[in-house]
Amino acid sequence: MDGNLLAAIRNAGQEQVLRFYGELSAESQQEFEAQLAQVNWQELPRLAAEYVVKRPETVIPADLAPAEFFPLEPADSAMSELYQRADAKGVELLRAGKVCCLTVAGGQGTRLGFDGPKGTYPIGPATNRTLFGYFAESIARAQEKYGKPILWFLMTSPINREATENFFRAQNFFGLAPEQVFFFTQGTMPAFGTDGKLLLSAKNSLSLSPDGHGGTLLALRRSGALEMMAANGVEYISYFQVDNPLVPVVSPRFIGLHALENSEMSALMLSKTNSKEKLGNFCVSGGKVQIIEYSDLPDELAEKRNPDGSLAFVAGSPAIHVISRQFVEKLTSGGTLMLPWHRADKKIPALDADGNIVTPAEPNGVKLESFIFDALPLAEKVMILEGGRSEVFAPTKNATGVDSAESCRIMISERNARRLSAAGVNIPRNADGSVNAVIELSPRLVFDDADAVELVKATGLRAVLPGETVVL
Ligand code: UTP
Repeated sequence: MDGNLLAAIRNAGQEQVLRFYGELSAESQQEFEAQLAQVNWQELPRLAAEYVVKRPETVIPADLAPAEFFPLEPADSAMSELYQRADAKGVELLRAGKVCCLTVAGGQGTRLGFDGPKGTYPIGPATNRTLFGYFAESIARAQEKYGKPILWFLMTSPINREATENFFRAQNFFGLAPEQVFFFTQGTMPAFGTDGKLLLSAKNSLSLSPDGHGGTLLALRRSGALEMMAANGVEYISYFQVDNPLVPVVSPRFIGLHALENSEMSALMLSKTNSKEKLGNFCVSGGKVQIIEYSDLPDELAEKRNPDGSLAFVAGSPAIHVISRQFVEKLTSGGTLMLPWHRADKKIPALDADGNIVTPAEPNGVKLESFIFDALPLAEKVMILEGGRSEVFAPTKNATGVDSAESCRIMISERNARRLSAAGVNIPRNADGSVNAVIELSPRLVFDDADAVELVKATGLRAVLPGETVVL
């Protein structure tokens, strides 16, 4: 084994990863060495000490205040005029081909319990349309509308890269040009046992997992995606997660305001429905916007009210951003980027002392992930815009219950019903106001409300019948 690497592993106090090294074939040893060479051994002792052996405490700054945001409805005529200019600016940037889409799809989707990349999950309320299908068709319609191809960057992990690409090929890229879809792979982090020692998943492999959506920024640089963006004249990145089929893949107002406000990184926010809602909170401290996770926001701040009774910390994050390419260039210019790590206690299958793989019943280790929103405090300027919850957010985290595939399908039907209703179609509703029908509109045809009007005109649809399933 390379002497420097061996010394680095020893200095980090992690020799146990080599305990089966002598048993490996020469080829296997080489593979393992190549993997070990990727680890930042110098940094490991600090990570183990600060995040694993000790539980990191979130320090809440004394000056923490709610972050300011642009409301969904303009507050006065000046704001109304600004929103109109933003709409026009957004359309102009889309027409000039200056906007790309970026989907983070490297997560493991453990809560959904689905075998395969989460984007291949069928989420259509009436058909098997997948999460990837929603975004792809929506991009296809948006680029048709704005007259310029929209490049689509998809972040995968080393674990799901191949399956993701195979799926796109099998689906013929959903009608998009294969050249406009760019897959890239995020980095990994080794998992720790609770004693701070790295775990092995095999005699010749560390237990590795994706390094969190914060890994996007560095992966954009390392993969050449940033260069590709620059070469294609892309200045703005429309960022969204793979588990939200309601997301507007590009939003002219959001993109336009980002540009007019000279923001480096912008965020959509949703007004929280209650103080305990499980969304990160947009806050400001020392003039810098930051997100405090719901579990870290002290009760007295979460419950704090404005004079009119509304929540003071009302702005929750649905993880939808516009990011300037130049900002990512700047952050990653040295080839590194140190975002803080977040600890997650997990059940991690690992080799025992005899080299047998053991799947624990209880959490036995720690995974570290970085989060994209930790780049917000690094931006010179952040713009936050309120989004309409039922228009932009339907997270698919679990199979059933809250934030589930079930609730997501209902939300898709509800938004479609609202769009059809606005276009003059009669919608059957239950006593509680919910839609008494299943409605799936093709995102290839309906990107926004105006498209729904056209579709209704073209089909002559007048009414949806109670209990009916409508697929258009
Ligand atoms: P989540 O935090 O919901 O994680 O990811 P997850 O891995 O998908 O699901 P669970 O927690 O195992 O059930 C939010 C978004 O960030 C992406 C996910 O694919 C999803 O779009 N993500 C997450 C990555 O791209 N890479 C990561 O390392 C983690």
